[in-house]
Formats: sequence, structure tokens, C-alpha cells
Amino acid sequence: MSENPPSWNLSVSPDGERLAEEAARRIRQAAEDAIRQRGRFTLALAGGSTPEKSYRLLADPKRGAGLDWGKTFLFFGDERFVPHDDPRSNYHMVQRSLLAPAKVPPERVFAIPTDTDSPAASASLYAETLQQQLEVAPGGLPRFDLILLGLGDDGHTASLFPGKPALYETAAWVTSSPPGMLPPPVDRVTLTFPVINAARQVLFLVAGAGKAQPLRDVLKGQATLETRPAVGVRPADGKVVWLVDEAAAAGLDRAT
Ligand code: 6PG
Repeated sequence: MSENPPSWNLSVSPDGERLAEEAARRIRQAAEDAIRQRGRFTLALAGGSTPEKSYRLLADPKRGAGLDWGKTFLFFGDERFVPHDDPRSNYHMVQRSLLAPAKVPPERVFAIPTDTDSPAASASLYAETLQQQLEVAPGGLPRFDLILLGLGDDGHTASLFPGKPALYETAAWVTSSPPGMLPPPVDRVTLTFPVINAARQVLFLVAGAGKAQPLRDVLKGQATLETRPAVGVRPADGKVVWLVDEAAAAGLDRAT
């Protein structure tokens, strides 16, 4: 990993609402660019709680045009290994905040299956889905137009947790992981760094004071992959944009 952190593209919003609006605006822009240039938009959605407001905005036609759902292909960056109707499921959060209100055609939604024998089986199945549905980037990796990611208080992203083997997966596109330190304590299925780093663009959505320290550690380059996994997000020729609110940005000198 290079010593000099890349120059980060950082956007600070006053609060969570404005952060969600900025995220929805950038997602729409990425969709318009992708559809204009390639005829479709491939988007991997983040889980957790922060993105929910942005998903509701994307689903609300009164708040500006939604996405072209006929040309938008929705995937997931990670999933908890629970049924999709379990409140802990990322799919469950996306279903109620985006898919149902926006009436997204089911054939445009590629969920990580959790009705398999194991998280590892789910990971293998999802890798096949990526193989079938995505364009291939240089190096033979599946390439998303945009991947949304969150940042955990422990510096994890997707389900790439501190100290877990998934951090070091360089061959598989999707892998499984035991729970990290933060709830919910359930097994996970997650995209791996090779796939994340093959994306055209990665958009981090980070809100709240609890993220100030991990955000500072990651952006200042004062962290290792082992302790702050989000430092592993360095797309080879893609763009990383950090959308944060003032509370999360508190630890940064804005010259960062
Ligand atoms: C998950 C997410 C996870 C999340 C971070 C931030 O399955 O929980 O993929 O990586 O993005 O933990 O979560 P919050 O947005 O809830 O703070």
C-alpha cells in the first residue's frame, strides 16, 4: 500500500439531511453519465443506516427526477446473512426505502442471496451474478459504475472488518466474513477490495460524530488496513469521493 494517501475528494455537508441530498444528486449525476455513455448504470448499494435518507430521496419523484429504473441495475456491496425480511437485512432496508416506493422493476435488482446453506455459498452465487451482469474491467474484474460505501466507527467498510481474513482476499470477488466488533453480530457476505477498487467511482457516505476519528485516521493516512479497513479503498483508475457531515468532519483540518 503506497505511503502517500491519494488526494481525497471531500465534500462536507452541514447535516445528515443535506448530506443525503448531496449523495442523491451525485448518484443521479453518475447515472446520467453512465446511461449517456454506456446505455445503463450499475450501482452497488451500501447497507447500514446512513444511506437510507438518500435512498428515500432517490425514490421520491417530487424531490427531482428519480433514476431511469429501466436502465439502472442495482446490486449490494454487502449483506448480513439473515433472511431478506429480517429487519437487520440490508436488502430489507433498501426494499422499504427505495425499491418499494420507487417501484423498481424486480428484474433490475440483484440481491445477495441469504437463503443458501452458508455465507460462503452465498458469496459464490453472487460472484456468478456479477460475472453474468457486469462489464469486465482491465484485469478481468467486474466493474461497477458506482459503489456506495459507509464507514463504521471501527473504520470498516462494506463487511470488511478489522482483523478479519476478508481484508486480504485478492482472488475472490465476493467473500464471507464472521461478524465484526459492531452489531449486528451475524455472519456477512461482502464485495472484496479487488472488485471495489475496479469501480469507476466510489462514494462514501459518512455522518455523525462517531465517525470523526476513523475518518481522520483514514484521510490522514494514519491507519493500516488491519485497523482501519477503509484505507484499502483505492480504485486503480476510479474516483473516491467522501461525502461527510460536519460532525464526522470535526477531526479534519480542512486542508486535508
Ligand atoms: C452494513 C454496512 C456497513 C455500514 C457501516 C456504517 O452492513 O452495516 O455495509 O459497512 O456501511 O457500518 O453504518 P451506518 O451507516 O449505520 O453508520
